[in-house]
Amino acid sequence: MLTEEAYQAQKKAYVPYSGFMVGAALLAKNGTVYKGCNIENASFSPTNCAERTAFFKAVSEGVKEFDAIAIVGNKRGEKGDICPPCGVCRQVMAEFCDPDEFQVILAAEDKNAVYTLRELLPLGFTKKDLESDGT
Ligand code: THU
Repeated sequence: MLTEEAYQAQKKAYVPYSGFMVGAALLAKNGTVYKGCNIENASFSPTNCAERTAFFKAVSEGVKEFDAIAIVGNKRGEKGDICPPCGVCRQVMAEFCDPDEFQVILAAEDKNAVYTLRELLPLGFTKKDLESDGT
């Protein structure tokens, strides 16, 4: 189960500054699952979110087609609410995923919410906009 893999990934979170542990499991169309955790940095801004870790692992292996991502996140890995992906991660999803097909699964102890990428990023800026000449 994709959510279970997200919980496994969460255990690897490197979060000495926020203590907020996030795990993601990204399902590629070829059936491979790429797991990612958040990786923080003393300089703060180089911090990488769990979702982007998963995407960058996949893309760096030549995989660019995806069906779904499961995300879990909470303080110190304790019980908490669902963890919605940040705006930057939504933008990275928009680069590779069909907004109406790609599913974002947000799981918590007693909750499971599933959204399409379009629901989370309406009117996102994509490569199609770069091709438009503005007329
Ligand atoms: N974080 C993620 O990994 N994914 C998100 O979508 C939201 C935020 C991480 C970044 C940072 O390490 C910690 O959560 C607190 O912001």
